[in-house]
Amino acid sequence: MSTFNALPGFRDFFPDDLAVRTHIMRAWRDVARRYGFQEYDGPPLEPLELYIEKSGPEIVQQLYNFRDKGDREITLRPEMTPTLARMAGARAAGLRKPIKWFAVPQLFRYERAQRGRLREHFQLNFDIIGEADVSADAELVAAAVDILRTLGLTHEDFVARVSDRRLLRALLLDAGVPEDQLVLAYNIVDKLERETPEAIAARLTGEAGVTAEAAAAVLAVFQHTEFAAVRQAYGGRPGIAAELERMERFFGFLDAMGLGGYVRFDLGVVRGLAYYTGIVFELFDTRGELRAICGGGRYDDLLKRIAGTDLPALGFGMGDVVLTELLRDRGLLPDTKPAFDYYVAGAGTEQRGALLALAHSLRDAGHSVEYSFAEAGRNRHFKNASALNARRVAWLGPDEVAAGEALVRDTGSGEERRIPLAELARP
Ligand code: HAM
Repeated sequence: MSTFNALPGFRDFFPDDLAVRTHIMRAWRDVARRYGFQEYDGPPLEPLELYIEKSGPEIVQQLYNFRDKGDREITLRPEMTPTLARMAGARAAGLRKPIKWFAVPQLFRYERAQRGRLREHFQLNFDIIGEADVSADAELVAAAVDILRTLGLTHEDFVARVSDRRLLRALLLDAGVPEDQLVLAYNIVDKLERETPEAIAARLTGEAGVTAEAAAAVLAVFQHTEFAAVRQAYGGRPGIAAELERMERFFGFLDAMGLGGYVRFDLGVVRGLAYYTGIVFELFDTRGELRAICGGGRYDDLLKRIAGTDLPALGFGMGDVVLTELLRDRGLLPDTKPAFDYYVAGAGTEQRGALLALAHSLRDAGHSVEYSFAEAGRNRHFKNASALNARRVAWLGPDEVAAGEALVRDTGSGEERRIPLAELARP
């Protein structure tokens, strides 16, 4: 008796589970192809240094890090973006811009395991490098939306919430937050959904040294839930108008693609990772039952800091865990039962040679084939074929073998035909 279990937060993928994962990854790769992203990968172990400071304290606390036998400080990768920045930065000079790459790494974070959060997950990463214009931000959000549409989800199931750190910065500076307290202020307002406005105001004055008046002005900013309302309230202020104009172009691009109904302006999207510099976004289920399905944004300084290559960049990560939960909740998981094109069987041992020859030539022709040597009657084999989800049965009784034919039965309709073996195995 085995008493071993997978570690907490790690998954065993039984065939049914793996079929779901494959279904999701097929949609990821399909949209990557349609949008012209090329696949890359990097090492699952990276130097610890790569994440310190670059990713920010939230991720650094969650690292699976250790010292290897060569006395190096290393860690399992918790995210892909620093690896991408290193790789793309190293080759960028020789590559056509914008560089559009995608990857499907397995990532590791020592998090408290809960619904939608595990200690390993597979994460699709789409990134665009070398394009500063907001059209690239729109392209990326469109790709994320199209992945979920490909999986059968609609605007009733999910929404992309979009903000811009530059706009938020301009609004907070305008409200009176000191420049050197901005990052702390972002982290505080990031909790607006979970804490009361009073608690947020108290933290802004207490921890971020913001005046009570400025804290009230910050909370007033977040009272606006519509982009038009923010534009009306702050559009006339110096330093804010240009930021609003950029967002307006972004929404205009998505409207033009017919995807406007999937995106919503939401200043409350801040994102935990430290490297984002511009438009940031997260995709959520509309019922608000799950954690973020996907998150990303623009990180224009990261390649310079990691690889010394000054190139604007943006991307997103979409994990398989929350996505699987959402598809299950909406009844959109695929049928994972294996299916066969043919089930080949014969009455007795004399037909084995013919049976193996037919099964193999059918497989050579590209069909999926299961066969049985069991000495049983036709009806028993027909039942087996249905249980195995085979679309057709090729039956080789003594008469059929003598005539060089098979009796082919369509499992669904029950229709039967005698077909010459040579014809049957034709591709
Ligand atoms: P992130 O927001 O940390 O971003 O993760 C992106 C997505 O990965 C999340 O929305 C969630 O679906 C999934 N995810 C993250 N952590 C876990 C976990 N512990 N268990 C299950 N799923 C998880 C990033 O990682 C950025 N590097 C994305 C990016 C790419 N930004 C630019 N390019």
